[in-house]
Amino acid sequence: MYNFYSDALDISTQLLRNCVILESRLESELLLSIALDVDRHNLILFYREIATYKELKCFMALVERRSQNEPVAYLKEEKEFYSLPIYVNRNTLIPRNESELIPEYFVNKNIDGQSVLELCSGSSCIGLSLALMYDGLSILNGDIECNTLKIGSKNIRLQGIRTIKLFASNMFESIPYDLFDFILCNPPYIKKSDVSGLMKDVRCFEPLSALNGGADGLLYYRCLADQSMVYLKQSGELLVEIGLGQHKEVENIFVSKDFYLKEIIVDLSGIKRTMVFGKK
Ligand SMILES: C[S@@+](CC[C@H](N)C(=O)[O-])C[C@H]1O[C@@H](n2cnc3c(N)ncnc32)[C@H](O)[C@@H]1O
Repeated sequence: MYNFYSDALDISTQLLRNCVILESRLESELLLSIALDVDRHNLILFYREIATYKELKCFMALVERRSQNEPVAYLKEEKEFYSLPIYVNRNTLIPRNESELIPEYFVNKNIDGQSVLELCSGSSCIGLSLALMYDGLSILNGDIECNTLKIGSKNIRLQGIRTIKLFASNMFESIPYDLFDFILCNPPYIKKSDVSGLMKDVRCFEPLSALNGGADGLLYYRCLADQSMVYLKQSGELLVEIGLGQHKEVENIFVSKDFYLKEIIVDLSGIKRTMVFGKK
């Protein structure tokens, strides 16, 4: 009996369905496209081909990992962000679509030549999107996790960007002092007690240090509100991503430290997701 790729897809779809993986057919196709190193849209060309042992083994290993809820982005070691292929592994948060609102904010803003400090930079997906938009920007990226910084560094190298400098830094602690035009941050913002209730894909695979925002989820906003003032130019702007329903509390934190709210940007699900503050 021959093993066609279409048979392998049927079997893996059933296996994933049994493990309560939603969209099991689509996910199977994604995994097969990773194993065969082809675009998913070209898979149809392979359906009636006889599967090789090596590719089948690779495919079934991916299916096994996915059935344990490992995210597809980690299996592929890539996530698209703002049309860029971003390298990821389990040492960094997988970039989320809603975080594209931050680079999106700068489209047509003509900020070339200005300076950007991004804290909690993770895979450097945000910094890279900006660096490719404006080649004269000077960008500093800081993250506390050395293994995460290695991923940021790899992405910067893969894109051939020279305008981003990376720093291992606990928030502002090791950032060389300067006045910046923009400070950006997508910090961990999930309440510590809520982390254990996250879906298994996130809870068991993404780094806790990228999720845990302290007892009330607001730890990093307080730190930013306390310390950003001296790093931000008078005309500068501070952009933060926030979690569902955090906008009022985050506004209060910044307004109590002499910032004013300039804008709230809503994501595609209608959630208030990015806040822009200026100095009073
Ligand atoms: C929510 S992730 C954001 C990653 C990336 N900017 C993105 O949008 O995909 C938060 C990041 O903050 C980093 N982080 C956590 N605590 C930190 C701290 N005290 N100082 C600097 N970075 C920190 C984590 O390592 C993680 O990469």
